Amino acid sequence: MNSLHDSPFLAACRSEPHQHTPVWFMRQAGRSLPEYREIRGEGSILDAIKNADLSTEITLQPVRRYNTDAAILYSDIMVPLHALGFGIEIQPGVGPVVENPFRSVSDLNRLRPLEPDRDTPYVLETIHQLVEELTVPLIGFAGAPFTLASYLIEGAPSRTYTRTKALMLEDPELWNSLMNHLVEIVISSLNSQISAGVSAIQLFDSWAGALSPSAYERFVLPHSKKIFLAVKDSGIPTIHFGVGTGEILSLMASAGSSVMGVDWKTPLDVARNRLGSEIALQGNLDPAICFASEHAVSTEVLNILEKNDNHPGHIFNLGHGVLPETNPQVLERIVEQVHSYPLELTERK
Ligand code: CP3
Repeated sequence: MNSLHDSPFLAACRSEPHQHTPVWFMRQAGRSLPEYREIRGEGSILDAIKNADLSTEITLQPVRRYNTDAAILYSDIMVPLHALGFGIEIQPGVGPVVENPFRSVSDLNRLRPLEPDRDTPYVLETIHQLVEELTVPLIGFAGAPFTLASYLIEGAPSRTYTRTKALMLEDPELWNSLMNHLVEIVISSLNSQISAGVSAIQLFDSWAGALSPSAYERFVLPHSKKIFLAVKDSGIPTIHFGVGTGEILSLMASAGSSVMGVDWKTPLDVARNRLGSEIALQGNLDPAICFASEHAVSTEVLNILEKNDNHPGHIFNLGHGVLPETNPQVLERIVEQVHSYPLELTERK
């Protein structure tokens, strides 16, 4: 058992008492930090992350600046698929773009099994470096099969997911094959990150909230379940996250993670009523609120902490990623406020 086992972040993931409410921010690495823009250089993030020294530094920057309770690896959900040669680029300000989107059964050949040591050695090297340097837990991650499939099929960020939803309904067999291929790739990627030393993993099903509960249950849940099952033996905490997931929150939780990400549209007390008190929650400040006055931000932060009602399983976070224009000072103040909030439960410890 390493020394981070009792850190506030990992204890909260296990819903065990700890010293203060842990906090980190999705998309804390990169984007809003001036020190990031200074060292990032030009070109695609998919090339930048091949430089392990650079990725290590970018991962450390927000931990130093904000004093967060966890670090998240500087990488991207598209990295494994890019490494397999699927023909993916990430266009600045746009997101992932696929030159030849997934269309038919022959495209399955373009999704061979991932061999992390050969295909993404730089990710593992970055993790090795970070584990040496960090005094807080490192979160590894992957895109969930549905969110990855949506990029492969749509070919670009989408608001409607029309092609993705059409494929599910018209050709469930091909959909299942695609998901099975992605499940294997995600499991290989996550297990390699776990072996390299990450302390927790987050599965980003960012766009799952676009699905109806019945579509989620039929076309996505069985696949995401396999992923949580495959990493269970490692014993490390798992976080499951999506945006706009209020109506499918209990279905997502049934995939088997130890922590459920909650966006700002579902208050934490409502989420707990839906999920029970066994599972920990992560969230859920609206990222847009970081642009309101200092007083308004601190009122909203307090509101979230109070809605948690001293449950030991709460990790403070935004309900989605840090917006690029966010003033870093606002995030600094949020961390201070969350850390100084008195936890009745831990005081009793
Ligand atoms: O959280 C972190 O800061 C750690 C690193 C991280 C990145 N992407 C770096 C990145 C993580 C965890 C991700 C996950 C990711 N990538 C998700 C799931 C999380 C979420 O926000 O819902 C998704 C959907 C992607 C796909 C993706 N990659 C998008 C939509 C974009 C934005 C494009 C843009 O420029 O606005 C990216 C690019 C990206 N990934 C950047 C960073 C820091 C910005 C571009 C860059 O630095 O070159």
